[in-house]
Amino acid sequence: MLNQNYKTIDTDLLIIGAGGSGLRAAVEALNTGVNVTILSKSLLGKAHTVMAEGGIAASLGDVDPEDNWKVHFKDTMVEGVYLSDWRLVEKLAKEAPDRVYELERMGALFDRTPEKKIMQRAFGAHTYRRLCHVGDKTGLELLRTLEDKILHSSNVKVMDEVFVTKLVKKNDKVIGVIALDMKTGEFIAINSKSIIIAGGGCGRIYEVTSNSWESTGDGIALAFDAGAEMMDMEMMQFHPTGMVWPPGVRGLLVTEGVRGEGGLLYNTKGERFMLRYSPQKKELDARDVVARSIYNEIQEGRGTEHGGVFLDISYKGKTFIMKKLPGMYMQFKEFAGVDITKEKMEVGPTTHYYMGGIKVDSETNSTNINGLFAVGEAAAGVHGANRLGGNSLADLLVFGKYVGINAAAYSKKANLEKIPEETIKNEIKRIGEFINPNGTNPYSLTEKLRKTMSDNVGIVRNEQSMQKALSVILEIKKEYKNIGVSGNLQYNPGLLQCLELHSMLEISELLVRGAIMRKESRGAHYRSDFPKKDKKWLKNIVFKKDEDKVESYTFSPPEMPPYLKEILPEEKYE
Ligand code: FUM
Repeated sequence: MLNQNYKTIDTDLLIIGAGGSGLRAAVEALNTGVNVTILSKSLLGKAHTVMAEGGIAASLGDVDPEDNWKVHFKDTMVEGVYLSDWRLVEKLAKEAPDRVYELERMGALFDRTPEKKIMQRAFGAHTYRRLCHVGDKTGLELLRTLEDKILHSSNVKVMDEVFVTKLVKKNDKVIGVIALDMKTGEFIAINSKSIIIAGGGCGRIYEVTSNSWESTGDGIALAFDAGAEMMDMEMMQFHPTGMVWPPGVRGLLVTEGVRGEGGLLYNTKGERFMLRYSPQKKELDARDVVARSIYNEIQEGRGTEHGGVFLDISYKGKTFIMKKLPGMYMQFKEFAGVDITKEKMEVGPTTHYYMGGIKVDSETNSTNINGLFAVGEAAAGVHGANRLGGNSLADLLVFGKYVGINAAAYSKKANLEKIPEETIKNEIKRIGEFINPNGTNPYSLTEKLRKTMSDNVGIVRNEQSMQKALSVILEIKKEYKNIGVSGNLQYNPGLLQCLELHSMLEISELLVRGAIMRKESRGAHYRSDFPKKDKKWLKNIVFKKDEDKVESYTFSPPEMPPYLKEILPEEKYE
C-alpha cells in the first residue's frame, strides 16, 4: 500500500534547476529580500553549465579593442539566421560585459592578458576574440562562484535529488509544484508565489551527446504539460567536436576552445577539409557549418574507423597546451590514452545545446502562464536557429539577472496559494503506479527513442526520416502507458527513468513536428529535401497544449528599429 504522506513547504520563489541560470536568478532574487527555494534533480554543481568550457562571450575589447556590443549583436543575429528575438539579443550583447565584471567581483578568477585585463579567445563565427575564459573550465568556475554566493545566504533553501513531477495551476496562474524527494521516497508539496524554470535542455534525447544524464528536458516538459508555449522546438545544436573513442566517452565535449586556440581539422586523407567548406572562417565557422562539414567528410568515406575526423593542436607545443587547455589534455590522456601535445584527437559531432524551449516575454522572461518564468537553455528566443559558442554563459548571466528581479517582483505582489490536498493525493497515486514489476521496461523504450532521434532527426534530416521518427515516437508513447519498474519510491533509478522518459517523449515529438513543418534549411535545421533557406520561413513555430490537444502557430519576428537594422547585413536568399 502506497504511503500517501507528504511534507509541505511554502516559499516566495521556487527555482527549478541549479545550473548557471537558476543560480544567477537566485543571487538576484535574494538581493530583493524574498526567500528562495532551489530544486535540483541531481547534486548541486552537477549541471550542464560546466560543459560550456571555452568561455563567456562578451565584447569587453580587452584583446581586440575594435570589439563592441554592436558587432556581438550582429554576429549573434546573423549566426542565429535572423530567427532570434532581436530584443533579447540586444540585451545580451549590451549587458554581457557588465555581467562578466560582476561575476569577477563575486570571485571568478579569469585568465589574464599580460596587461592584467581579462583574457579573451577566438571562437567560431565571433568576429573578434571575445570569449572570457578560465582555461577550458569556464562553466565550472562560473558555477563555483555562483554556488559560493548562494550558499552564504540564509534566505535560500537548496534541495538536491528532488524531481518535480507536476506544476500546479489555479486558473491561469502557477501556485506550486509536487515533487518527489528521491533520497527518501517522500513527496513534497511546494506552495510558491512564482516559479522559474531553469532546468536546462534535453541533449539526452539523442544517443551521442555532450550532455550528462540530467539533460532530459524535464523543466521544458513540465511547462508544456501546464500549458506554456514552446518555440523553435526543431532547433537542436550539434557541437562539431565531441570524443568518438572509446565508446564509454563517446560524445564528451572537446571544447571549441581547441579550435579557438589554433586546432586544425583533418580527414583521413590528411586534408584540412574546412578550407574547402569555409575558405574564410575555416575551423572557426559557425557550429552548424563545421558540424555538417565533418558529417559530410565521414559520410563520404574520409572519416576514421571510429566515425570521426582528426583535430590537431599538437603543433602548438606542450607549454602552450598545458596552459590553455589543461582539461582537454587530462581528458584525452585519462580516457583515450592520447597525448594531445604529441598526437591528434579523434572527434565528431555531438548533440550539445537546445535552442528551442519555453517561449518567454522579451522584457520579463515570463511565460504565458502567470507566475511562471523561464531562463537559460530551457527558454527559447536568444539563439534562434544556431547558437554561437560562449553565448550560453552570456545568456544565463544576463537573463538570469533579469528573471531573478522580475520573478521576485512578481512574488512580492502575489498571494501564496495552497495546493489542494486532492491534487497532491492524485499525483502521489499517479507516480505510485509506475511501481509495477510487470510493466514495460523504461530503459529499452528510452534507448529506442534515442536511437530513433539520432538515426532520423540528426544533423541532416528529411521528410521520410522524420515521418519515420514520428511514427516510432507515437508507438513508444503507446507503450509508455504500460511502463513500470520494481522496487519502491526511494532511490529508484528505474522510476526516475519512467519520469524522464515522459519529458523526452514530449520534447522529441515537438522537435520532430516542428522540423517537419519547417520546409527549408536554416542554421542547425538542415533538410536534404529542402537544402535552401526560404524567406517564407523567417518565422518562429510555436506549440501549445490545451487539455490533451496540441496546437501550433507561426509568427514573424517583430520589426527591428532602424538603429539596429543598420548594424545588420540584409538577409540573403538564393
Ligand atoms: O566548446 C565549448 O567550450 C562550448 C561552449 C559553449 O557551448 O558555449
